[in-house]
Amino acid sequence: MLESKALRRAGCACLVASFTAAWAQPAPSINSGGVINAASSAAGAPLAPGSIASAYGSFPLGAPSVAATVPLPTNLGGLSLNFGALDVPLFYAGSGQVNLQVPWELAGQAFRPALTASLAGQTSAPQTVNIAPFAPGIFSVNSQGTGPGAIQDSSYQLITAANPAAAGITAILIYCTGLGAVTNQPPSGAAAPSNPLAETMTMPTVTIGDVPAQVLWSGLAPGSVGLYQVNVQVPANSPTGNAVPVILSIGGATSNTVEIAVQPPTPDQRADQLLTQMSQDQEIQLVYGSIATATVPTRGGAGFVQGIPALGIPNLYLADGSVGVGNGVGQATALPSSIASAASWDVTEAFKYGTVIGAELRAYGMNVNLGGNINLIGREPRDGRTFETKGEDPILAGKITAAHISAIQAQHVIGGIKHYALNDQESGRTTADAEIDERGMRESDLLAFEIGVADSGVQSVMCSYNLVNDVYACENAHLLNDILKGDWQFPGFVMSDWGATHSTVNAALNGLDQEQPDNAYFGSLGQAIASGQVPQSRLDDMVHRILRAMYAAGLFDYPESLGPIDTATDQAIAQGAEEQGAVLLKNAGGQLPLNAAALKSIAIIGSHADVAVLSGGGSAQVTPTGGPALTEGYPCPPCWAQVIWDPSSPLQAIQAMAPNATVHFDPGTNATTAAALAAASQVAIVFVSQWTSEGMDMPSLNFTDVIHTPPIDQDALVAAVAAANPNTIVVMENSSAQVMPWLGSVNAVLEAWFPGQQGGAAIASLLFGAVNPSGKLPITFPASVDQLPRPVIAQPPDSTTPFPVSYFEGFNVGYKWYDSQGLTPLFPFGFGLSYTTFAFSNAAVVNNLSSGNPNFQVTFNLTNTGSVAGAEVAQVYLAFPASAGEPPKRLVGWQKVTLQPGAAQQVTIEVDANDSSHPLSYWDVNSGAWLMAPGVYTVYLGNSSSSASLIAAGTFQIGS
Ligand code: BGC
Repeated sequence: MLESKALRRAGCACLVASFTAAWAQPAPSINSGGVINAASSAAGAPLAPGSIASAYGSFPLGAPSVAATVPLPTNLGGLSLNFGALDVPLFYAGSGQVNLQVPWELAGQAFRPALTASLAGQTSAPQTVNIAPFAPGIFSVNSQGTGPGAIQDSSYQLITAANPAAAGITAILIYCTGLGAVTNQPPSGAAAPSNPLAETMTMPTVTIGDVPAQVLWSGLAPGSVGLYQVNVQVPANSPTGNAVPVILSIGGATSNTVEIAVQPPTPDQRADQLLTQMSQDQEIQLVYGSIATATVPTRGGAGFVQGIPALGIPNLYLADGSVGVGNGVGQATALPSSIASAASWDVTEAFKYGTVIGAELRAYGMNVNLGGNINLIGREPRDGRTFETKGEDPILAGKITAAHISAIQAQHVIGGIKHYALNDQESGRTTADAEIDERGMRESDLLAFEIGVADSGVQSVMCSYNLVNDVYACENAHLLNDILKGDWQFPGFVMSDWGATHSTVNAALNGLDQEQPDNAYFGSLGQAIASGQVPQSRLDDMVHRILRAMYAAGLFDYPESLGPIDTATDQAIAQGAEEQGAVLLKNAGGQLPLNAAALKSIAIIGSHADVAVLSGGGSAQVTPTGGPALTEGYPCPPCWAQVIWDPSSPLQAIQAMAPNATVHFDPGTNATTAAALAAASQVAIVFVSQWTSEGMDMPSLNFTDVIHTPPIDQDALVAAVAAANPNTIVVMENSSAQVMPWLGSVNAVLEAWFPGQQGGAAIASLLFGAVNPSGKLPITFPASVDQLPRPVIAQPPDSTTPFPVSYFEGFNVGYKWYDSQGLTPLFPFGFGLSYTTFAFSNAAVVNNLSSGNPNFQVTFNLTNTGSVAGAEVAQVYLAFPASAGEPPKRLVGWQKVTLQPGAAQQVTIEVDANDSSHPLSYWDVNSGAWLMAPGVYTVYLGNSSSSASLIAAGTFQIGS
């Protein structure tokens, strides 16, 4: 048959050759030393009974043959291999290679048997083979990365750089050969027993990166012949990297080395592992605050979650901290208002600010921060919590908050962001129902959260008291499940604001992960699960999120270390934050900086400026280091506590700056005496203040004394002083926009915010020019409350009935509102003066939107045209094509640049289309996605949002 086929194919010229081949077919031969371990390919190494080997040689077969059945055949395509009378089971026979199983029967035989190959009646010369009890070889990945038997994880996925093993977590499956005979050997070629481990004579040892690994399972790979499988746990202390060596040893024999990728475990992997060890009761213990029942928390703070020592789960100690450590945990550095940090427009400064909060929380043993207040109070500048927030623009607020949180989490404290969402007024805060359209919220309040979450890796989000579109925020599936955990892929946990939980089942199903501060609702989660109303998987998800937050922030790896706070370092940062964040609003006739050498007398008036600066109230209230300078009043609302004045004397700091001047103080309670002092002084510095707190909104935007009875009329005080002294300077200690009926009659106004306990020194530095002001308003100052979207704050009908607050302005918050309405505010967003002047020139726009890293760049020259060093915040605003339906312009980028007098610098501000702030996109409600609108975009550059201070830097086109 063979000959005739060949004949038909090749024709008569080949006839002779075909006959010659048939008559002279060579005998099979096995190469000397050609029988080797199939896994390790180690030439000359002995072979273990039962293992897979390859015999190389010449086996003149037609096509290769592959064994299709178990038990394995002992003849493939006419070829057989034999150790004497012992037939060898075969997997594969090809012309140059035969794969075989070393017969079990050779176990324990102390001789070198000879292997022969027989084919078509011819037999090869014998080759002796070394048989050893053990001769392990580990299969490795072939050049395609898909080879059979390579090291896998328990899902049978290859361990590769893209799918690394996790130290301490992953169990790996090592496929190998040569672990030797098993007891009760199966006959040659038989399938492996179902429980081969029971029959393994000796357990192998495995090292991963030289670290001994726990062997979980060892034996024949189930269902296989000749192929062994060893399962091991990758040790927690394994080295990491993409080439960590795995070596297996058994019976004194050592395998080849195979490298695998090992990485530290992710917080998710660690959380999952810990979760497998927890009972349902233990899980439930982590999903609510135990402040009411626990005996442990002697550290103060706002909340406490009882840990589980048996599983190494630490207690959670929760403390506020938006402007320093709050809740009376202990004396701590009173930082300037968060809004002052935003006014620096400087994320590096903001990171330092967050570091103070994180380090001091940690020093007090607090490991969860309830900070990160990012509500866009520009919607309601009378909101009592403005001092905790970062202004009206979602991008500025998002970036500054992200810097705070990143710094806090770097101190191994779980960071928080709050209050999610649209908690923009305190009047009726538990029943206010924020009504807003989807696009409006996505591009305003929610965008701030989106940026904060994306840029900081924050681990907790606090849902707010209020309702959003008729549903309480803490059981609002759209906010929590669809947007936060869905669209934004937030991996951490959602905790309720204090008492903001309203249900067990709804809250659990709709996204709340932890009730605070007690278990009024989540105490019933066990019953809700038992009755099938809440799936166990949802509880597992809650706990997973909490545990992964603890791992991610380092609560397991960096155990608490209580200690003294570094007051000197932290107060220096507090002073720097104030110096960078104070905003010079007016400086007529170069009134400032004050010239110490020329000053003989200074009047300091009002706001306890002889001894103190003001701080804000509520849960964010800091008890300042050294204790308050004084406490007074008991403002009602919120009817919670006395007002705290931080110990920092502007008067002393001013006196230190002007040692040759006589400095007198008047308390400002009587405008006539204050005016008399002013009249007798070269300059008058009036300190006006507006106390605000959580739990209240300001009655108006005028400076309104809510502390004293009878109240001090500060507007009248400033007017009287200004009338008495043409060199009147006003320093404002407040936290939001104010109206200033006296603005035209004073020479200078410095917005100092609540300046923190280094405020006195910082204010003096700014007034005397030791530091050049560079802060810019993060919130628009309206000319009057009539310019606000809601001149009157919506009020609750009672304490329990939800009432609507219509955010009809949608995304037009702050400057976008004023732009859209054509209103001219008192001071625009982004505004702030300096003691020097700056000029923008040669502005140009470079369009890189079609590059792999789509962006546009604004390049320009910035020149310090004045006579002192200073910093300017160059701001980039974008006007979208009209068809996009966006606000007239949006802040999309900025850079703070410091220049010596006369110096010029070329500056490039890059606006990345893929940034978390979606600078080039609008929220498309139809597709539920951020989209770019086609059309022409105009790029504006300047130093405030007011059109007068902006130049058109250029345009670019998207689409056709
Ligand atoms: C506030 C939160 C604060 C919590 C704990 C609530 O009243 O709204 O901002 O974190 O109390 O102090």
